[in-house]
Amino acid sequence: MRSLEKANLVLTEFEQLANTNTTNPIDPKEGYKVGVDLGTSSIVLVVLDAGNQPVFGAFEFADVVRDGLVVNYQQSVQIVKRLKQQAEEVLGFSLAAASGAVPPGTVGNNKRVIANIIESAEMRADQLIDEPTAAALLLELSEGAVIDVGGGTTGISVFKEGSPIYVVDEPTGGTHMTLVIAGYYQETVKEAEKRKRDKKQERQNFTIVRPVVQRMAEITRCALAKYPTEPLIVVGGAASFEEIEKEFSVYLNQEVYKPIYPQFVTPIGIAMSSTIIYGEG
Ligand SMILES: Nc1ncnc2c1ncn2[C@@H]1O[C@H](COP(=O)(O)OP(=O)(O)OP(=O)(O)O)[C@@H](O)[C@H]1O
Ligand SMILES: [Mg+2]
Repeated sequence: MRSLEKANLVLTEFEQLANTNTTNPIDPKEGYKVGVDLGTSSIVLVVLDAGNQPVFGAFEFADVVRDGLVVNYQQSVQIVKRLKQQAEEVLGFSLAAASGAVPPGTVGNNKRVIANIIESAEMRADQLIDEPTAAALLLELSEGAVIDVGGGTTGISVFKEGSPIYVVDEPTGGTHMTLVIAGYYQETVKEAEKRKRDKKQERQNFTIVRPVVQRMAEITRCALAKYPTEPLIVVGGAASFEEIEKEFSVYLNQEVYKPIYPQFVTPIGIAMSSTIIYGEG
């Protein structure tokens, strides 16, 4: 898939920046875009240039959001502030505005909370978009479905002519994988979370979490029974398992694609949705 290859190039660049705390220097006068993703397991800050190429990335693991609801406002603000400061130090200019995202179906005050957090971190709140719509931006997906397996939930969004026409979000995600591993080894959730991410144990881990993956695939099957579509693209941190797209493909009897760093698709898409900010040089 051509658009997937393109997205993979951006993701690879972003991952490198985020892991080295470095920048592809830009002149703020030429414009930049900022995205903040408040997830169940981490908060990610993305800075792109006006042409949507990554210039900075940083993230912090955090336990401040549960299933799309902010449960610790103060701490969320602290983390976004820290990430912003980190970005400004490396970039050499201050970030004037940022966009955010909410899970589909978020209404009223809960939507406002994300904007308030961005504003409390001393940035103007720019766009507030749906998470799957953000993902679809990076994936250049106008037809097909995004399957987002995050920390708390599995969300399926079916797109037609560039807009989501059907969205479901069910409470099965990476957290449930961790719980199954913790149960299997009779260990704490913290220990299990560490084990889950250990590449050396990936094979064995996948065997243990397979029932959770199948539940995610079943949620997807139900959505697709109503709105059959293609292509199917799986994103989100819990999609990190190498075998996940194969398991989905077999279960759904349809090809499922996965971008290279599935956890960064939505955050980058959020930044892409921003209007271009022109700063002082
Ligand atoms: N290398 C990895 N292997 C397995 N699971 C991983 C890996 N990295 C992250 N995860 C899992 O991905 C989940 C977080 O994914 P993501 O960052 O997409 O979720 P989120 O946006 O924080 O949550 P949500 O979308 O549910 O609000 C966590 O359960 C985490 O344990
Ligand atoms: Mg998410």
